Amino acid sequence: MEFPTFTVLPRHVAVIMDGNGRWAKQRGLPRTAGHVEGAKTFRRIGEYAGDLGVKHITFYAFSTENWSRPETEVSAIMRLFGEYLEEARERLQESIQKGIRLRFLGDKARIDPALVAMMDFMEDATKDGQKVNLNIAVNYGGQQELLHAVRSLAKDVLDGSLSPDAIGAGDLESRLYTAGQPPVDLMIRPSGEQRLSNFLLWQSAYAEFWYSDVLWPDFTEEHFNEALRAYEKRNRRFGGV
Ligand code: FPP
Repeated sequence: MEFPTFTVLPRHVAVIMDGNGRWAKQRGLPRTAGHVEGAKTFRRIGEYAGDLGVKHITFYAFSTENWSRPETEVSAIMRLFGEYLEEARERLQESIQKGIRLRFLGDKARIDPALVAMMDFMEDATKDGQKVNLNIAVNYGGQQELLHAVRSLAKDVLDGSLSPDAIGAGDLESRLYTAGQPPVDLMIRPSGEQRLSNFLLWQSAYAEFWYSDVLWPDFTEEHFNEALRAYEKRNRRFGGV
């Protein structure tokens, strides 16, 4: 396959995989059928991003707010996630060869312990991967992540190892789930919505946004190229002139 080249590539791309439910509804199918297709798109685009040379890519799979969905839908998403983890374990050698590091962003406490065991195993088994950082946000909320980091800072202040006046951005960043990774350069949201939905709040401070009406299950490599082309043309000023 011929891969397009870009004059500038975002170091970190974040993707909100939205529109699965509407995709299914348009076809008279249950919402869960949309998630099945969405999971396939996730695999395709994750692999494609790595092949193009994107070093960090983060997919929003399940938010802290998604627990309020019907139980059948929550368990269907978790089952798909479990299937992905099984497959990732079977393909572990291939991932190691490709230099893929898998990380899960979010609070693991509420996730099924059997899934958490697989998540921990994959994180540990791929921890030396240096080419592609594939992050999957599961039971993730940006505000919750910040609270978690702030509590950790407060503990260090309380035990005297950190002075309040000395707290810098790096102290907070090292306590985020994305510790050690660069901020988000490009945020992709399909399905016509134009909001951040509590995703990577700190990390997206200067992210460029790319929206499209395409629903996630219909999202192709061409759409991803389109987002990267748009990014290439953006003039990023980071508050300067
Ligand atoms: C948003 O679409 C999608 C989700 C809340 C779930 C995303 C999950 C997957 C793609 C599959 C599981 C994940 C992995 C990593 C294998 P929506 O349901 O809100 O769509 P709607 O806005 O059209 O209702």
